[in-house]
Amino acid sequence: MAASVSVDFITHTFKGQSAPTLKDVELSIRPGEQVALIGRSGCGKSTLLHMLAGLMLPTEGCVHIRGHMVTKPSAKWNMMFQKPSLYPWMSVRQNAELGLLFAGRRDPARIDALLDLVGLADKADANVQSLSGGQQQRVALARSLATSPELLLLDEPFSALDAFTRAALQDEVSRIARQEKLTLVIVTHDIDEAVAMADRVLIMAANPGRIVGEMAIDLPTPRERASAEYSRAREQLMTTFDGLVGDGRSTAAPSADTQDAEPQRAAA
Ligand SMILES: Nc1ncnc2c1ncn2[C@@H]1O[C@H](COP(=O)(O)OP(=O)(O)OP(=O)(O)O)[C@@H](O)[C@H]1O
Ligand SMILES: [Mg+2]
Repeated sequence: MAASVSVDFITHTFKGQSAPTLKDVELSIRPGEQVALIGRSGCGKSTLLHMLAGLMLPTEGCVHIRGHMVTKPSAKWNMMFQKPSLYPWMSVRQNAELGLLFAGRRDPARIDALLDLVGLADKADANVQSLSGGQQQRVALARSLATSPELLLLDEPFSALDAFTRAALQDEVSRIARQEKLTLVIVTHDIDEAVAMADRVLIMAANPGRIVGEMAIDLPTPRERASAEYSRAREQLMTTFDGLVGDGRSTAAPSADTQDAEPQRAAA
């Protein structure tokens, strides 16, 4: 079941700092919605995501998930990071079931089904060190899904991957989130990633971190990257971002991604 999320006027000042990192951030996310959060480096995206996950509490304001105030982490709202953080001495299956074990449960049939879902059924007994970066991120995804979260929070989860693997995983995670009826929030620098995955993109500005605009991506899924509508949405987001925050070409989409964008477009 997908969760609704409401962020009620969060302001956050880190210890020892005089100015707030986040200021009066307010937003609400519908159950099952896929939201991307974009903004320049350092504007407070990860800080906000950590607050949604209950990993950090704001100095003012609060987060509600499905009407419950978030005061600590929960298996119902799982976070996935840029690095998959797997235990190198364990197999794919053992890593994937860790979240469930920590929650005091065992469900081998669910783990098998999830490894199948993320395309790793034939690697279940392999050591995770023998996997590629994309495959390792799939193990982390299976681990995140195992506890049946209502909300999946992703902090630049694909930024270390090559362009082709990244595009495949963007489509896959979007599809799985819809299939498993999850609400999804993805933090990214990459405008392409936002257009590929989100129903709605929130644009953040820095000093203090705040949401300055948003854009709906009203395109069918899976997203057809070669379509004229996709290119239009991408252009429109770039222009909106530039208008609100500055030069999206050099900030929201870092140089590595800009280079990667060429083969992605050619391949689509
Ligand atoms: N624990 C902390 N103590 C003090 N300042 C912090 C702490 N964590 C983050 N900050 C500051 O808060 C601001 C926002 O950081 P945050 O990591 O949320 O940015 P971000 O938008 O995720 O950036 P990036 O895109 O580079 O990941 C930065 O200026 C950072 O230096
Ligand atoms: Mg960050």
